[in-house]
Amino acid sequence: MSATLSAPVLPEYLKGRDFLTFLEYSPEELQELLTLAAQLKQLKRNRIPHKLLEGLSVAMYFEKPSNRTRVSFEVGIYDLGAHPFMLRKDEINLGVRETIADTARTLSRYVDCIMIRTFAQKDVEELAQWADVPVINGLTDDYHPCQVLADLLTVQERFGSFKGRKLTYVGDGNNMANSLMLGCAMVGMDVTIASPSGYQPQPAIVEKAQSIAAQSGATVAVSDDVKAAVKDASVVYTDVWASMGQEAEAEARKQVFKAYQVNAENLALALPEAIVLHCLPAHRGEEITAEVLEKHADVIFEQAENRLHAQKAVLAAIVR
Ligand code: CP
Repeated sequence: MSATLSAPVLPEYLKGRDFLTFLEYSPEELQELLTLAAQLKQLKRNRIPHKLLEGLSVAMYFEKPSNRTRVSFEVGIYDLGAHPFMLRKDEINLGVRETIADTARTLSRYVDCIMIRTFAQKDVEELAQWADVPVINGLTDDYHPCQVLADLLTVQERFGSFKGRKLTYVGDGNNMANSLMLGCAMVGMDVTIASPSGYQPQPAIVEKAQSIAAQSGATVAVSDDVKAAVKDASVVYTDVWASMGQEAEAEARKQVFKAYQVNAENLALALPEAIVLHCLPAHRGEEITAEVLEKHADVIFEQAENRLHAQKAVLAAIVR
């Protein structure tokens, strides 16, 4: 154990902020969260207590299934000395049993932070608007910022820096594509989304990411050409072809996306040192071959572990 490791000093100016899309943060603040995540990872690895949120409570509300988000938040909240607890959909039924505003104002009287995974981004925004405590987006149909914070931590660990490197995302232009575009643009890493026509990311989010990239010196591109997109990439990223809530489209999507697979042939065009990332769960034989996933399993499961450290950084920084 290193004698120099100690609990980090938390910046006061992030206290009380929501974590909904990344757009609530400046590039410098995002980098600050990454630095904090790396520090918290070292404390955890060295079993040094870091109960920065001692005595507080964090509610977790899920309307979609989860392994990584559920477990990493629960463990992380406990690591920070706070009390995590789950709210089930049949208990809360957001926006149905009572208004979102009433749920937000009630929970704010009991807990110090609300983490929510649901479908509509607007519901998370409304919850945050009415809550007096920070709200964290644990995934919506539009964004998955907790995942991308962990992804950026993983890239930073592997390559040391972002500038001059390209991340290529292959697959559906979904919440992951949206958050990767914003996150990469903010840290100054080039990003290309390779998706078939009709399944590309929302133009408004592409344009927003491009405007951020213009400031950071990065590029944001969207293409339907997988091979051109993967060429010279340092990071090749993919996600399932049918996200949660799109199960009925799964068979049709297998036809649409069959050329949008991370496999040995496409990966050969990336840089020799390229890493493969996957937010998981993975569907082997669809968006990624079993061979590629197992070859890159070390970094993919490091990426999964980094959910814990990244989310702890967000919690420690924003919860009062
Ligand atoms: N990547 C991710 O969010 O995993 P879960 O759906 O298991 O939480």
